[in-house]
Formats: sequence, C-alpha cells, structure tokens
Amino acid sequence: MSLTRTPEHSIHPLFTDRWSPRAFTGEPIDDVTLLSFFEAARWAPSAYNAQPWRFVYAKNGTENWPRFIGLLSEFNRTWAQNASALVVLLSKTHFVPPGKTDAIPATTHAFDTGAAWANLALQASLAGWHTHAVGGYDKEKAREILGVPADYALQAAIVIGKRGDKSLLSPNLQEREQPSQRRPLNELVAEGGFAFA
Ligand SMILES: Cc1cc2nc3c(=O)[nH]c(=O)nc-3n(C[C@H](O)[C@H](O)[C@H](O)COP(=O)(O)O)c2cc1C
Repeated sequence: MSLTRTPEHSIHPLFTDRWSPRAFTGEPIDDVTLLSFFEAARWAPSAYNAQPWRFVYAKNGTENWPRFIGLLSEFNRTWAQNASALVVLLSKTHFVPPGKTDAIPATTHAFDTGAAWANLALQASLAGWHTHAVGGYDKEKAREILGVPADYALQAAIVIGKRGDKSLLSPNLQEREQPSQRRPLNELVAEGGFAFA
C-alpha cells in the first residue's frame, strides 16, 4: 500500500497533498477557520465575474446538523457523521450580463463553481484540514429542506473535518483510506487536436 503521490512534472506540493479521506475526528471547527475556506473559494475565477457559487453549511453538534447529515446517502453518512462541517454547494443558473437588465442562462455556472470548490479544498488542506466532496446525497430533499430557489442548481456536498484514525472505518473502507493516483499526463493532454482513446 503506497501513500506516495509522485507528480510527473514539478508542481507545488499543495496539489498532491490534498486528498479526500473518510476517517474524521469530529472535532469542532471554529468560524474563523471555516470562513477562511469560503474566503479562498470566493476568489475563484468565473465567467463575467458572475460568482455563481453559494455555500450553505452546518457544523457538527449544532441543531442544523441532523438535517444536513440526513441528506447524505446511507454509505456517505456512515463516515461523514464524524466530520466537523457539511457544506451544500449551490450555483446560480442565471445572471444579468454587464450593461443589461435581464437575466440570461449562465452556461458556465457549474464549471465556475467547480473552481470555487477546488479553491476551498486547497485552502482547507493548507490549513491542516481535509475535505471530501460528495455527490451521493438527496438533491430534491436538500432543495426542499434548505429552501433553495429554482434558479439555483445543487452541486456537490462537501464534508470538512480533521483526519481521524482509519480504525474508525469499516475494514473495507480502511483499505481505501489513502491518496489515490492519477491517469498519466499523456492520456489527458494532446497538442494540436483530439488524440485520446
Ligand atoms: C463531485 C464529486 C462527487 C463525489 N462523490 C463522492 C461520494 O458520494 N462518496 C465518496 O465517498 N466520495 C465521493 N467523491 C470523492 C472522489 O471519489 C475522490 O475525490 C476521487 O476518488 C479522487 O480522490 P482524492 O480526492 O482523494 O484525490 C466525490 C468527488 C467529487 C469531486
């Protein structure tokens, strides 16, 4: 079992240090720390600088927590229940272009919001915390119980916490509790035209 991530080319270690564990300690996260993650997210680039991302969160141990953790699939809930915070990431699907008065569909709202999530995850990692994005949650229920209007799309949920001992996990998940690898760069990049299998 290797925990090593070796880039093919020289990059800042912040990119390879970030990974998504499932064993969390459940320790409280303070507002200054949590808000610094959202702060990093808000500096992401977006088309027309429309900033379509929105973050709705609950901290573990608060009255909001059961409503949020209850949105996750049963599998995700087994490990995410020991997180410190859970964020539901939304994106605004329409925007008013500069100089116009009417809103039009934002074709890149999901793309832009993905950039914001990446900023958040990297800032958390730099600060010694871990994040784990989750697609396995009930979006319709989230829309209903969080009061999300129709012109916002539900993107991923984000689990945030301090990494715990993997003995907290089932034997099956213990085996998977390590940084994953990546496809080789030559399968992902082509000069001059599409050249992929
Ligand atoms: C949009 C998105 C949805 C994901 N959904 C889940 C999920 O429902 N459950 C889970 O355990 N991991 C989920 N993951 C985590 C990915 O499996 C993980 O990011 C990927 O394997 C790469 O590993 P790394 O983040 O440790 O580098 C999700 C990640 C993303 C970006």
